[in-house]
Amino acid sequence: MYIKQLKDLSSKLLNETIEAVVLLSEVKVKTTKTDKKYADIIIQDASRMMEAKYWDYEENQEKFKSFQPHEIVQIQGQVGEYGGQLQLTIRNIERASSDKVSIKDLIPTSPWEFESMKKGLEYFQNRIETPHLKELIDKMIFSAEYYEKFCTYPAARKVHHNFYRGLLHHTLEVLKLVNTVANTKKLSQHQTDRLFVMTMLHDWGKMMEYKALPELGLTEKGMMIGHIFLGAHYTLNAIHEINDFPEEDKLVILNGILGHHGSLEFGSPVLPKTVEAQILHQADKMSGDVESILSFIKEDAEEEENFTKRLWNMGTEYYKK
Ligand SMILES: [Fe+2]
Ligand SMILES: [Fe+2]
Repeated sequence: MYIKQLKDLSSKLLNETIEAVVLLSEVKVKTTKTDKKYADIIIQDASRMMEAKYWDYEENQEKFKSFQPHEIVQIQGQVGEYGGQLQLTIRNIERASSDKVSIKDLIPTSPWEFESMKKGLEYFQNRIETPHLKELIDKMIFSAEYYEKFCTYPAARKVHHNFYRGLLHHTLEVLKLVNTVANTKKLSQHQTDRLFVMTMLHDWGKMMEYKALPELGLTEKGMMIGHIFLGAHYTLNAIHEINDFPEEDKLVILNGILGHHGSLEFGSPVLPKTVEAQILHQADKMSGDVESILSFIKEDAEEEENFTKRLWNMGTEYYKK
């Protein structure tokens, strides 16, 4: 059963015992007034997150401590109500084997169909005519080493495109946007090639910045160095393996990756210095901002007010109707 169904059917399921396979998102050990330890847990699946209580924590501490962050678990729980809110009390919790469930059932996935996303990426690959730029993209995206990762990683932990295949989804969105600008402004073929390449690589470093799903945290590399530097660093290494890669294209591509956040205060070490890099920055911002507004409105849909709460990264509330 999905958590969303549980919420929708909560009145019918009152006092029933349900079973579900979920991710253990967060566990906080707390103490009752009578000095007994219990666990406040956040469980999640692809449909949503929810809080649950586990009162028998003290007796099962050892088992609990052996769970990894974002462990896949099978729970049995009793549906109850507290202060008008659905409350789930977990009666039993066991580690579930990951081959029994699909990751798509546990974490949100891009709503775009994977086959058409793959075709979209190939379309832009084939649009690149400059041989050394094509070679760079083939090495960094279409190689056995990176293709699978590039197609499955999220593009963020929160805010925008924080779902399975989010990096691919976001990269395609930005490619579509920069393509429109390149056509409208009549960029040359070479400029367009450079723009497509820097766009495909701009968030590439996220494959190393984030842990593989279902975990949501940053890796040590991600914490220490971040995706902007990581992307530029691996791109430079790949360029060094390509014969006679022109110095000018190298600098332009690296500037596009390093400058894509648009300003020093948002983490870019240099500003965009080419028209291509500025187009990439603005398209990237457009993709991220619009996605964050749309998903915030969706999350807030159950609240009755006409406006959402304040969206922290945009600094304002949004009208929902
Ligand atoms: Fe980025
Ligand atoms: Fe991005």
